[in-house]
Amino acid sequence: METKDYSKYFMPNMQDARKRINRYTNVYKFTLDEEYKKLGQNRFYYIKTYGCQGNNADSEKIAGILEAMGYQETAEIEKANVLLLNTCAIRENAEMRVFGELGRLKGLKVKNKDLLIGVCGCMPQEENVVKTLYEKFPYVDLVFGTHNIHKLPQYLRDAYFSQDRVIEVYSQEGDIVEEIPMKREHQVKAWVNIMYGCDEFCTYCIVPYTRGKERSRRPEDIISEVKELIDLGYQEVTLLGQNVNAYGKDFVDIEYTFADLLADLNKLPISRIRFTTSHPRDLDDRTIEVMSRGGNIMPHLHLPVQSGSNTVLKRMNRKYTKEEYVEKVKKLKQAVPGISITTDIIVGFPGETNEDFEKTLELVKECEFEGAFTFIFSPREGTPASRYEDSTPMEEKKKRLYRLNEIVNEGYLKGNKRFEGEVVEVLVEGKSDKNPNLLTGYTPHNKLVNFIGDEFLIGKIVKVKIDKAFTWHLRGKIVS
Ligand code: SAH
Ligand code: SF4
Ligand code: F3S
Repeated sequence: METKDYSKYFMPNMQDARKRINRYTNVYKFTLDEEYKKLGQNRFYYIKTYGCQGNNADSEKIAGILEAMGYQETAEIEKANVLLLNTCAIRENAEMRVFGELGRLKGLKVKNKDLLIGVCGCMPQEENVVKTLYEKFPYVDLVFGTHNIHKLPQYLRDAYFSQDRVIEVYSQEGDIVEEIPMKREHQVKAWVNIMYGCDEFCTYCIVPYTRGKERSRRPEDIISEVKELIDLGYQEVTLLGQNVNAYGKDFVDIEYTFADLLADLNKLPISRIRFTTSHPRDLDDRTIEVMSRGGNIMPHLHLPVQSGSNTVLKRMNRKYTKEEYVEKVKKLKQAVPGISITTDIIVGFPGETNEDFEKTLELVKECEFEGAFTFIFSPREGTPASRYEDSTPMEEKKKRLYRLNEIVNEGYLKGNKRFEGEVVEVLVEGKSDKNPNLLTGYTPHNKLVNFIGDEFLIGKIVKVKIDKAFTWHLRGKIVS
Protein backbone atom coordinates (compact mmCIF):
# COMPACT_ATOMS: atom_id res chain seq x y z
CA MET A 1 0.00 0.00 0.00
CA GLU A 2 1.31 3.44 -0.89
CA THR A 3 2.35 5.54 2.12
CA LYS A 4 0.11 8.50 2.71
CA ASP A 5 1.06 11.75 4.36
CA TYR A 6 -1.17 11.98 7.39
CA SER A 7 0.66 14.93 8.91
CA LYS A 8 -2.16 17.34 8.19
CA TYR A 9 -4.53 15.25 10.30
CA PHE A 10 -4.71 14.69 14.04
CA MET A 11 -3.98 10.97 14.12
CA PRO A 12 -4.28 8.68 17.16
CA ASN A 13 -1.30 6.89 18.61
CA MET A 14 -1.54 3.88 20.93
CA GLN A 15 1.82 4.61 22.57
CA ASP A 16 0.64 8.08 23.57
CA ALA A 17 -2.72 6.73 24.63
CA ARG A 18 -0.98 4.47 27.11
CA LYS A 19 0.70 7.34 28.92
CA ARG A 20 -0.67 8.55 32.22
CA ILE A 21 1.17 11.79 32.92
CA ASN A 22 -1.32 14.42 34.02
CA ARG A 23 -2.89 13.68 37.34
CA TYR A 24 -5.02 16.77 37.00
CA THR A 25 -8.17 16.73 34.89
CA ASN A 26 -9.48 19.87 33.21
CA VAL A 27 -13.23 20.34 33.43
CA TYR A 28 -14.77 22.46 30.66
CA LYS A 29 -18.31 23.60 30.03
CA PHE A 30 -19.82 22.97 26.63
CA THR A 31 -21.11 25.99 24.74
CA LEU A 32 -22.56 26.22 21.26
CA ASP A 33 -21.69 29.31 19.25
CA GLU A 34 -24.48 31.09 17.37
CA GLU A 35 -22.85 30.34 14.02
CA TYR A 36 -23.60 26.62 14.45
CA LYS A 37 -27.22 26.87 15.51
CA LYS A 38 -28.67 26.95 12.00
CA LEU A 39 -26.36 24.43 10.36
CA GLY A 40 -28.84 21.63 10.89
CA GLN A 41 -31.94 23.39 9.63
CA ASN A 42 -34.00 21.11 7.36
CA ARG A 43 -31.45 18.38 7.80
CA PHE A 44 -31.82 14.97 9.43
CA TYR A 45 -29.44 12.77 11.41
CA TYR A 46 -29.18 9.04 12.03
CA ILE A 47 -26.83 7.49 14.60
CA LYS A 48 -25.96 3.82 14.79
CA THR A 49 -24.41 2.82 18.11
CA TYR A 50 -22.23 -0.21 18.80
CA GLY A 51 -20.61 -1.39 22.04
CA CYS A 52 -21.18 -0.64 25.70
CA GLN A 53 -23.49 1.67 27.63
CA GLY A 54 -20.69 4.23 27.65
CA ASN A 55 -21.15 4.47 23.91
CA ASN A 56 -24.94 4.68 24.27
CA ALA A 57 -24.47 7.61 26.63
CA ASP A 58 -22.09 9.24 24.14
CA SER A 59 -24.63 8.82 21.36
CA GLU A 60 -27.17 10.62 23.54
CA LYS A 61 -24.72 13.51 23.76
CA ILE A 62 -24.05 13.48 20.03
CA ALA A 63 -27.81 13.54 19.40
CA GLY A 64 -28.17 16.37 21.92
CA ILE A 65 -25.53 18.45 20.15
CA LEU A 66 -27.06 17.78 16.73
CA GLU A 67 -30.52 18.81 17.91
CA ALA A 68 -29.10 21.99 19.44
CA MET A 69 -27.74 22.70 15.96
CA GLY A 70 -31.21 22.31 14.44
CA TYR A 71 -30.91 18.77 13.07
CA GLN A 72 -33.84 16.40 13.46
CA GLU A 73 -33.64 12.68 14.09
CA THR A 74 -34.88 10.28 11.44
CA ALA A 75 -35.56 6.57 11.71
CA GLU A 76 -35.01 6.15 7.96
CA ILE A 77 -31.36 5.88 7.09
CA GLU A 78 -32.03 6.99 3.46
CA LYS A 79 -33.40 10.29 4.70
CA ALA A 80 -30.32 11.19 6.77
CA ASN A 81 -28.07 14.13 5.94
CA VAL A 82 -25.67 13.20 8.72
CA LEU A 83 -25.06 9.53 9.37
CA LEU A 84 -22.79 8.60 12.25
CA LEU A 85 -21.49 5.22 13.31
CA ASN A 86 -20.48 5.32 16.97
CA THR A 87 -18.17 2.34 17.09
CA CYS A 88 -16.73 -0.24 19.48
CA ALA A 89 -13.21 -1.71 19.30
CA ILE A 90 -13.44 -4.32 22.05
CA ARG A 91 -13.23 -7.40 19.80
CA GLU A 92 -12.38 -7.99 16.19
CA ASN A 93 -15.89 -9.07 15.22
CA ALA A 94 -17.26 -5.76 16.55
CA GLU A 95 -14.93 -3.97 14.14
CA MET A 96 -15.76 -6.24 11.21
CA ARG A 97 -19.44 -5.42 11.64
CA VAL A 98 -18.68 -1.72 11.32
CA PHE A 99 -16.59 -2.15 8.19
CA GLY A 100 -19.35 -4.35 6.74
CA GLU A 101 -21.94 -1.68 7.48
CA LEU A 102 -19.76 1.01 5.92
CA GLY A 103 -19.57 -1.06 2.74
CA ARG A 104 -23.35 -1.16 2.58
CA LEU A 105 -23.67 2.59 3.14
CA LYS A 106 -21.65 3.55 0.09
CA GLY A 107 -24.72 3.54 -2.16
CA LEU A 108 -26.46 6.19 -0.06
CA LYS A 109 -23.83 8.72 -1.02
CA VAL A 110 -24.66 8.31 -4.69
CA LYS A 111 -28.33 9.07 -4.07
CA ASN A 112 -27.88 11.90 -1.58
CA LYS A 113 -25.22 14.50 -2.37
CA ASP A 114 -25.76 16.35 0.91
CA LEU A 115 -25.04 13.25 3.00
CA LEU A 116 -22.10 13.30 5.40
CA ILE A 117 -20.93 9.94 6.74
CA GLY A 118 -18.97 9.96 9.99
CA VAL A 119 -17.22 7.34 12.12
CA CYS A 120 -16.64 8.08 15.80
CA GLY A 121 -16.26 6.26 19.12
CA CYS A 122 -13.57 3.76 20.06
CA MET A 123 -12.46 2.44 16.65
CA PRO A 124 -10.99 5.74 15.41
CA GLN A 125 -8.77 5.77 18.51
CA GLU A 126 -6.72 3.11 16.67
CA GLU A 127 -4.30 4.45 14.11
CA ASN A 128 -4.77 1.46 11.80
CA VAL A 129 -8.49 1.98 11.69
CA VAL A 130 -8.12 5.64 10.72
CA LYS A 131 -5.70 4.68 7.97
CA THR A 132 -8.08 2.00 6.67
CA LEU A 133 -10.97 4.47 6.73
CA TYR A 134 -8.87 6.99 4.86
CA GLU A 135 -7.58 4.64 2.24
CA LYS A 136 -10.42 2.19 1.68
CA PHE A 137 -13.49 4.24 2.51
CA PRO A 138 -13.04 7.54 0.66
CA TYR A 139 -16.72 8.35 1.17
CA VAL A 140 -16.30 8.67 4.95
CA ASP A 141 -16.23 12.44 5.45
CA LEU A 142 -15.73 12.72 9.16
CA VAL A 143 -13.63 10.79 11.69
CA PHE A 144 -13.37 11.72 15.36
CA GLY A 145 -12.76 9.83 18.59
CA THR A 146 -13.97 9.57 22.16
CA HIS A 147 -12.20 12.70 23.45
CA ASN A 148 -13.66 15.30 21.13
CA ILE A 149 -17.39 14.76 20.79
CA HIS A 150 -17.89 18.36 21.95
CA LYS A 151 -16.16 19.60 18.81
CA LEU A 152 -18.74 18.02 16.50
CA PRO A 153 -20.28 21.41 15.50
CA GLN A 154 -16.92 22.62 14.18
CA TYR A 155 -16.26 19.34 12.39
CA LEU A 156 -19.62 19.47 10.63
CA ARG A 157 -19.04 23.05 9.54
CA ASP A 158 -15.60 22.11 8.21
CA ALA A 159 -17.03 19.09 6.42
CA TYR A 160 -19.64 21.25 4.67
CA PHE A 161 -17.35 24.10 3.75
CA SER A 162 -13.98 22.52 3.04
CA GLN A 163 -13.04 20.22 0.20
CA ASP A 164 -11.09 17.91 2.46
CA ARG A 165 -12.20 15.20 4.83
CA VAL A 166 -12.25 15.98 8.53
CA ILE A 167 -10.09 13.62 10.57
CA GLU A 168 -9.27 14.54 14.15
CA VAL A 169 -8.57 11.99 16.87
CA TYR A 170 -6.81 12.83 20.13
CA SER A 171 -4.78 10.33 22.09
CA GLN A 172 -4.32 12.65 25.03
CA GLU A 173 -5.31 11.39 28.44
CA GLY A 174 -8.60 13.28 28.38
CA ASP A 175 -10.57 16.07 29.96
CA ILE A 176 -14.14 16.26 31.17
CA VAL A 177 -16.67 18.33 29.29
CA GLU A 178 -19.78 19.18 31.29
CA GLU A 179 -23.16 20.44 30.15
CA ILE A 180 -23.22 18.77 26.77
CA PRO A 181 -26.93 18.62 25.90
CA MET A 182 -28.31 15.06 25.83
CA LYS A 183 -31.15 13.58 23.90
CA ARG A 184 -31.96 10.57 26.02
CA GLU A 185 -33.00 7.30 24.46
CA HIS A 186 -35.46 6.34 27.21
CA GLN A 187 -37.97 8.31 29.24
CA VAL A 188 -38.03 5.94 32.21
CA LYS A 189 -34.41 5.07 32.85
CA ALA A 190 -31.25 7.06 32.19
CA TRP A 191 -27.51 6.53 31.94
CA VAL A 192 -25.38 8.84 34.06
CA ASN A 193 -21.62 8.87 33.50
CA ILE A 194 -19.80 9.16 36.80
CA MET A 195 -16.32 8.67 35.40
CA TYR A 196 -14.53 8.25 32.13
CA GLY A 197 -11.52 6.21 31.03
CA CYS A 198 -9.75 3.27 32.64
CA ASP A 199 -6.36 2.81 34.29
CA GLU A 200 -6.58 -0.93 34.88
CA PHE A 201 -4.75 -2.08 31.75
CA CYS A 202 -6.02 -5.64 31.76
CA THR A 203 -3.63 -7.14 29.23
CA TYR A 204 -6.31 -8.13 26.69
CA CYS A 205 -8.23 -4.89 26.74
CA ILE A 206 -8.16 -1.90 24.42
CA VAL A 207 -10.39 0.40 26.52
CA PRO A 208 -7.57 2.16 28.46
CA TYR A 209 -6.18 3.18 25.06
CA THR A 210 -9.46 4.23 23.48
CA ARG A 211 -10.93 6.05 26.48
CA GLY A 212 -7.90 7.56 28.17
CA LYS A 213 -7.09 7.93 31.84
CA GLU A 214 -9.54 7.42 34.68
CA ARG A 215 -11.22 10.70 35.54
CA SER A 216 -14.17 11.27 37.80
CA ARG A 217 -16.94 13.78 37.41
CA ARG A 218 -17.40 16.09 40.37
CA PRO A 219 -19.98 14.77 42.86
CA GLU A 220 -22.07 17.96 42.65
CA ASP A 221 -22.35 17.62 38.85
CA ILE A 222 -23.54 14.01 39.14
CA ILE A 223 -25.99 14.76 41.94
CA SER A 224 -27.49 17.71 40.11
CA GLU A 225 -27.88 15.59 36.96
CA VAL A 226 -29.73 12.94 38.96
CA LYS A 227 -31.93 15.62 40.55
CA GLU A 228 -32.80 16.96 37.10
CA LEU A 229 -33.72 13.45 36.00
CA ILE A 230 -35.98 13.09 39.03
CA ASP A 231 -37.73 16.36 38.10
CA LEU A 232 -38.23 15.00 34.59
CA GLY A 233 -39.95 11.92 36.00
CA TYR A 234 -37.18 9.35 35.57
CA GLN A 235 -37.49 6.30 37.81
CA GLU A 236 -34.10 4.69 37.34
CA VAL A 237 -30.50 5.76 36.82
CA THR A 238 -27.55 3.57 35.92
CA LEU A 239 -24.22 5.04 36.97
CA LEU A 240 -21.63 4.38 34.30
CA GLY A 241 -17.88 3.90 34.35
CA GLN A 242 -15.46 1.21 33.16
CA ASN A 243 -14.49 0.70 36.79
CA VAL A 244 -16.99 2.56 38.97
CA ASN A 245 -15.24 1.38 42.14
CA ALA A 246 -12.26 3.57 41.25
CA TYR A 247 -14.55 6.61 41.28
CA GLY A 248 -13.00 9.54 43.15
CA LYS A 249 -9.50 8.10 43.36
CA ASP A 250 -8.27 10.84 41.05
CA PHE A 251 -9.61 13.76 43.09
CA VAL A 252 -6.72 15.85 44.35
CA ASP A 253 -8.71 18.24 46.55
CA ILE A 254 -11.44 16.12 48.16
CA GLU A 255 -11.84 12.67 49.69
CA TYR A 256 -14.94 11.24 48.10
CA THR A 257 -15.30 7.66 46.92
CA PHE A 258 -17.85 5.53 45.09
CA ALA A 259 -19.34 4.47 48.43
CA ASP A 260 -19.86 8.16 49.34
CA LEU A 261 -21.57 8.82 46.03
CA LEU A 262 -23.80 5.79 46.39
CA ALA A 263 -24.72 6.81 49.95
CA ASP A 264 -25.63 10.33 48.78
CA LEU A 265 -27.74 9.04 45.90
CA ASN A 266 -29.40 6.54 48.26
CA LYS A 267 -31.02 9.54 49.98
CA LEU A 268 -32.54 10.99 46.80
CA PRO A 269 -36.15 10.32 45.81
CA ILE A 270 -35.41 8.21 42.76
CA SER A 271 -36.84 4.68 42.72
CA ARG A 272 -33.89 2.74 41.36
CA ILE A 273 -30.13 3.06 41.23
CA ARG A 274 -27.92 0.67 39.32
CA PHE A 275 -24.26 0.92 38.41
CA THR A 276 -21.85 -0.74 36.02
CA THR A 277 -19.12 -1.91 35.72
CA SER A 278 -17.55 -3.01 38.99
CA HIS A 279 -14.02 -4.28 39.29
CA PRO A 280 -13.58 -7.12 41.79
CA ARG A 281 -10.34 -5.73 43.17
CA ASP A 282 -11.67 -2.24 43.81
CA LEU A 283 -15.10 -3.20 45.12
CA ASP A 284 -14.60 -2.36 48.81
CA ASP A 285 -16.33 -3.18 52.09
CA ARG A 286 -17.76 0.33 52.39
CA THR A 287 -19.51 0.00 49.04
CA ILE A 288 -20.90 -3.38 50.09
CA GLU A 289 -22.09 -1.80 53.35
CA VAL A 290 -23.89 1.00 51.47
CA MET A 291 -25.42 -1.60 49.13
CA SER A 292 -26.74 -3.45 52.19
CA ARG A 293 -28.85 -0.37 53.05
CA GLY A 294 -31.07 -1.32 50.11
CA GLY A 295 -33.77 1.24 49.41
CA ASN A 296 -33.24 2.48 45.89
CA ILE A 297 -29.97 0.55 45.41
CA MET A 298 -30.96 -2.48 43.37
CA PRO A 299 -29.99 -6.02 44.49
CA HIS A 300 -28.05 -6.84 41.36
CA LEU A 301 -24.36 -6.59 40.66
CA HIS A 302 -22.44 -7.17 37.45
CA LEU A 303 -18.99 -8.24 38.61
CA PRO A 304 -16.80 -9.44 35.73
CA VAL A 305 -14.50 -12.27 36.79
CA GLN A 306 -12.98 -13.13 33.36
CA SER A 307 -11.48 -16.47 34.48
CA GLY A 308 -11.47 -18.96 37.35
CA SER A 309 -7.77 -19.76 37.05
CA ASN A 310 -5.25 -17.78 39.06
CA THR A 311 -2.55 -18.30 36.43
CA VAL A 312 -4.80 -16.81 33.76
CA LEU A 313 -6.02 -13.99 36.03
CA LYS A 314 -2.42 -13.05 36.67
CA ARG A 315 -1.55 -12.95 33.00
CA MET A 316 -4.68 -10.90 32.41
CA ASN A 317 -3.39 -8.40 35.01
CA ARG A 318 -6.69 -8.56 36.89
CA LYS A 319 -4.92 -8.11 40.25
CA TYR A 320 -7.12 -10.50 42.27
CA THR A 321 -7.20 -14.23 42.81
CA LYS A 322 -10.09 -16.59 42.34
CA GLU A 323 -10.24 -16.97 46.13
CA GLU A 324 -10.47 -13.21 46.67
CA TYR A 325 -13.23 -13.02 44.11
CA VAL A 326 -15.24 -15.80 45.77
CA GLU A 327 -14.77 -14.06 49.12
CA LYS A 328 -16.28 -10.83 47.76
CA VAL A 329 -19.21 -12.73 46.31
CA LYS A 330 -19.82 -14.31 49.72
CA LYS A 331 -19.74 -10.91 51.41
CA LEU A 332 -22.16 -9.51 48.87
CA LYS A 333 -24.58 -12.39 49.35
CA GLN A 334 -24.48 -11.90 53.12
CA ALA A 335 -24.88 -8.13 52.94
CA VAL A 336 -27.60 -8.13 50.30
CA PRO A 337 -29.70 -11.29 50.73
CA GLY A 338 -30.97 -12.63 47.42
CA ILE A 339 -28.64 -10.45 45.36
CA SER A 340 -28.31 -11.49 41.74
CA ILE A 341 -24.74 -11.59 40.50
CA THR A 342 -23.79 -11.60 36.84
CA THR A 343 -20.38 -11.61 35.22
CA ASP A 344 -18.18 -11.49 32.11
CA ILE A 345 -15.91 -14.38 31.11
CA ILE A 346 -13.23 -14.72 28.45
CA VAL A 347 -12.37 -18.20 27.17
CA GLY A 348 -9.29 -19.11 25.17
CA PHE A 349 -7.03 -16.46 26.66
CA PRO A 350 -3.47 -17.14 25.36
CA GLY A 351 -2.04 -20.10 27.26
CA GLU A 352 -5.36 -21.10 28.87
CA THR A 353 -5.12 -24.88 29.39
CA ASN A 354 -7.98 -27.29 29.70
CA GLU A 355 -7.31 -27.34 33.42
CA ASP A 356 -7.54 -23.55 33.61
CA PHE A 357 -10.81 -23.70 31.74
CA GLU A 358 -12.22 -26.37 34.08
CA LYS A 359 -11.46 -23.99 36.94
CA THR A 360 -13.60 -21.35 35.25
CA LEU A 361 -16.48 -23.84 35.00
CA GLU A 362 -16.10 -24.69 38.70
CA LEU A 363 -16.13 -21.02 39.63
CA VAL A 364 -19.32 -20.39 37.64
CA LYS A 365 -21.03 -23.14 39.62
CA GLU A 366 -19.58 -22.02 42.93
CA CYS A 367 -20.67 -18.39 42.53
CA GLU A 368 -24.09 -19.33 41.10
CA PHE A 369 -24.00 -16.56 38.54
CA GLU A 370 -27.45 -15.65 37.27
CA GLY A 371 -26.08 -14.51 33.93
CA ALA A 372 -22.83 -13.95 32.08
CA PHE A 373 -21.53 -12.36 28.93
CA THR A 374 -19.06 -14.85 27.51
CA PHE A 375 -16.44 -14.17 24.86
CA ILE A 376 -13.65 -15.87 22.98
CA PHE A 377 -10.40 -13.93 23.44
CA SER A 378 -9.82 -11.54 20.57
CA PRO A 379 -6.28 -10.18 20.15
CA ARG A 380 -6.29 -6.37 20.03
CA GLU A 381 -3.29 -4.83 18.34
CA GLY A 382 -1.14 -2.82 20.71
CA THR A 383 -2.26 -4.65 23.87
CA PRO A 384 0.22 -6.96 25.67
CA ALA A 385 -1.93 -10.10 25.33
CA SER A 386 -1.97 -9.78 21.55
CA ARG A 387 1.74 -10.66 21.69
CA TYR A 388 1.35 -13.65 24.04
CA GLU A 389 1.84 -17.06 22.53
CA ASP A 390 -1.47 -18.70 21.80
CA SER A 391 -1.42 -22.29 20.62
CA THR A 392 -5.02 -23.29 21.34
CA PRO A 393 -6.87 -23.87 18.04
CA MET A 394 -10.03 -21.83 17.43
CA GLU A 395 -12.07 -25.03 17.22
CA GLU A 396 -11.08 -25.88 20.78
CA LYS A 397 -11.92 -22.35 21.96
CA LYS A 398 -15.35 -22.61 20.40
CA LYS A 399 -15.93 -25.91 22.19
CA ARG A 400 -14.97 -24.27 25.48
CA LEU A 401 -17.34 -21.39 24.85
CA TYR A 402 -20.14 -23.82 24.07
CA ARG A 403 -19.57 -25.81 27.27
CA LEU A 404 -19.38 -22.65 29.33
CA ASN A 405 -22.58 -21.26 27.84
CA GLU A 406 -24.46 -24.42 28.72
CA ILE A 407 -23.60 -23.93 32.37
CA VAL A 408 -24.19 -20.20 32.23
CA ASN A 409 -27.65 -20.77 30.75
CA GLU A 410 -28.51 -23.15 33.59
CA GLY A 411 -27.62 -20.25 35.91
CA TYR A 412 -29.92 -17.89 34.03
CA LEU A 413 -32.82 -20.33 34.34
CA LYS A 414 -32.15 -21.11 38.00
CA GLY A 415 -31.93 -17.38 38.75
CA ASN A 416 -35.29 -16.83 37.09
CA LYS A 417 -36.95 -19.91 38.62
CA ARG A 418 -36.54 -18.59 42.12
CA PHE A 419 -39.18 -15.98 41.33
CA GLU A 420 -41.88 -18.41 40.19
CA GLY A 421 -44.97 -17.82 42.33
CA GLU A 422 -43.50 -14.60 43.76
CA VAL A 423 -44.86 -11.08 43.40
CA VAL A 424 -42.18 -8.77 41.97
CA GLU A 425 -42.00 -5.06 41.26
CA VAL A 426 -41.55 -4.28 37.59
CA LEU A 427 -40.54 -0.92 36.17
CA VAL A 428 -42.54 -0.90 32.95
CA GLU A 429 -40.36 0.20 30.05
CA GLY A 430 -42.66 -0.30 27.08
CA LYS A 431 -44.27 -2.82 24.80
CA SER A 432 -42.46 -6.06 24.09
CA ASP A 433 -40.66 -5.98 20.72
CA LYS A 434 -41.77 -9.50 19.92
CA ASN A 435 -45.41 -9.19 20.97
CA PRO A 436 -47.03 -5.73 21.06
CA ASN A 437 -49.83 -7.06 23.29
CA LEU A 438 -47.33 -7.54 26.09
CA LEU A 439 -45.69 -4.97 28.33
CA THR A 440 -42.11 -5.47 29.37
CA GLY A 441 -39.84 -4.28 32.16
CA TYR A 442 -37.26 -5.27 34.75
CA THR A 443 -37.41 -6.38 38.38
CA PRO A 444 -35.04 -5.05 41.06
CA HIS A 445 -32.84 -8.14 40.41
CA ASN A 446 -32.71 -7.10 36.74
CA LYS A 447 -34.92 -9.91 35.48
CA LEU A 448 -36.91 -9.26 32.34
CA VAL A 449 -40.68 -9.70 32.83
CA ASN A 450 -43.42 -9.84 30.16
CA PHE A 451 -47.08 -9.44 31.10
CA ILE A 452 -50.39 -8.24 29.73
CA GLY A 453 -51.23 -4.66 30.68
CA ASP A 454 -52.38 -1.26 29.48
CA GLU A 455 -50.03 1.14 27.76
CA PHE A 456 -50.65 3.83 30.38
CA LEU A 457 -48.58 1.73 32.82
CA ILE A 458 -45.39 2.54 30.90
CA GLY A 459 -43.05 4.43 33.22
CA LYS A 460 -44.71 3.08 36.37
CA ILE A 461 -43.63 0.45 38.85
CA VAL A 462 -46.25 -2.30 39.07
CA LYS A 463 -46.59 -5.54 41.00
CA VAL A 464 -46.57 -8.69 38.90
CA LYS A 465 -47.09 -12.27 40.04
CA ILE A 466 -44.71 -14.59 38.22
CA ASP A 467 -46.38 -17.63 36.62
CA LYS A 468 -43.47 -19.07 34.74
CA ALA A 469 -39.72 -18.67 34.44
CA PHE A 470 -37.85 -19.17 31.17
CA THR A 471 -34.12 -18.93 30.52
CA TRP A 472 -34.24 -15.33 29.29
CA HIS A 473 -37.40 -13.93 30.84
CA LEU A 474 -40.25 -14.29 33.30
CA ARG A 475 -43.94 -14.31 32.49
CA GLY A 476 -46.57 -13.11 34.92
CA LYS A 477 -49.87 -11.36 35.66
CA ILE A 478 -50.30 -7.90 37.03
CA VAL A 479 -51.71 -7.81 40.58
CA SER A 480 -51.94 -4.05 41.14
N1 SAH B 1 -14.80 -2.30 32.21
C1 SAH B 1 -15.58 -3.45 32.15
C2 SAH B 1 -16.01 -3.87 30.78
C3 SAH B 1 -14.99 -3.97 29.72
S1 SAH B 1 -15.46 -4.56 28.17
C4 SAH B 1 -14.84 -4.51 32.93
O1 SAH B 1 -13.78 -4.31 33.41
O2 SAH B 1 -15.35 -5.59 33.06
C5 SAH B 1 -16.60 -5.85 28.50
C6 SAH B 1 -16.04 -7.22 28.47
O3 SAH B 1 -15.48 -7.52 27.21
C7 SAH B 1 -14.93 -7.49 29.44
O4 SAH B 1 -15.39 -7.70 30.73
C8 SAH B 1 -14.30 -8.73 28.85
O5 SAH B 1 -14.93 -9.89 29.33
C9 SAH B 1 -14.57 -8.59 27.37
N2 SAH B 1 -13.35 -8.28 26.62
C10 SAH B 1 -12.58 -7.18 26.72
N3 SAH B 1 -11.52 -7.27 25.88
C11 SAH B 1 -11.64 -8.45 25.23
C12 SAH B 1 -10.85 -9.13 24.26
N4 SAH B 1 -9.74 -8.61 23.79
N5 SAH B 1 -11.29 -10.34 23.82
C13 SAH B 1 -12.42 -10.89 24.31
N6 SAH B 1 -13.19 -10.31 25.24
C14 SAH B 1 -12.81 -9.09 25.70
FE1 SF4 C 1 -10.78 -3.18 30.11
FE2 SF4 C 1 -9.94 -4.11 32.43
FE3 SF4 C 1 -10.49 -1.51 32.14
FE4 SF4 C 1 -12.48 -3.27 32.14
S1 SF4 C 1 -11.10 -2.84 33.86
S2 SF4 C 1 -12.18 -1.60 30.72
S3 SF4 C 1 -11.55 -5.04 31.14
S4 SF4 C 1 -8.85 -2.63 31.15
FE1 F3S D 1 -16.42 -0.90 23.04
FE2 F3S D 1 -15.29 1.37 23.59
FE3 F3S D 1 -17.25 0.48 25.11
S1 F3S D 1 -14.27 -0.43 22.90
S2 F3S D 1 -17.02 -1.72 24.96
S3 F3S D 1 -17.41 1.07 23.01
S4 F3S D 1 -15.47 1.60 25.78
